[in-house]
Amino acid sequence: MRIDKYISNCGYASRKDVKKLIKNGVVTINGTVCKKAEQQVDENSEVCVEGNKLVYSEFVYLMLNKPQGYISAVYDKKYPVVTDLVDEEYVHFEVFPVGRLDIDTEGLLILSNDGQFAHEMTSPKKNIYKRYFARLDKPMEEKDIEIFAGGMEFKEFTAKPAKLEITDNPEEVYIEIAEGKFHQVKRMCERVGKRVVYLKRVAIGGLTLDETLKIGQIKELTKEDLEKI
Ligand code: URA
Repeated sequence: MRIDKYISNCGYASRKDVKKLIKNGVVTINGTVCKKAEQQVDENSEVCVEGNKLVYSEFVYLMLNKPQGYISAVYDKKYPVVTDLVDEEYVHFEVFPVGRLDIDTEGLLILSNDGQFAHEMTSPKKNIYKRYFARLDKPMEEKDIEIFAGGMEFKEFTAKPAKLEITDNPEEVYIEIAEGKFHQVKRMCERVGKRVVYLKRVAIGGLTLDETLKIGQIKELTKEDLEKI
């Protein structure tokens, strides 16, 4: 790959700024000063910029605290999309949402450019539980806990047993589901006669939403964060 792409993938500088760095003679490849942005390198090349040795990363994993009003896609004709919220420094990675949240759902959404990771995360075989906080139009009842725990039949799938936790305010609940089917939480609540008026995803597996992230903000996930999933 070209040296300018390599350096921007490492998050050191944008492609445009890399050209300036090369011009200034501060980029070396295996100890030799690089003269052209078109020069080819691979993952094994030792690349230094301003004396700093770069660590190559092809993939990036981002946590977004998704706001309402955004579609979980990379493009939409009508609405803003979650990738509009990606900071400049990550734009060149061309990330996409891993799974989906409805336009009116907030909370934890992972964005990545790693297709294999996305496939595993969304595979029903992996049984990765997603935890949601929901506010309802009516109080949830104790009897509903068992109904959720028994699994639910829908037209196109059978929901695995889900965990329902009723908080001190019975109109506010936590729900854990194993799948991520279209409007699943809303449909499960409707099944017991309640309408979801607010929904936020708070965890995927053991990875919880960083509550210090403001709505619409993004942070990069580390390997340790990903292991928690
Ligand atoms: N279930 C829903 O109903 N909506 C979401 O956005 C996620 C899960």
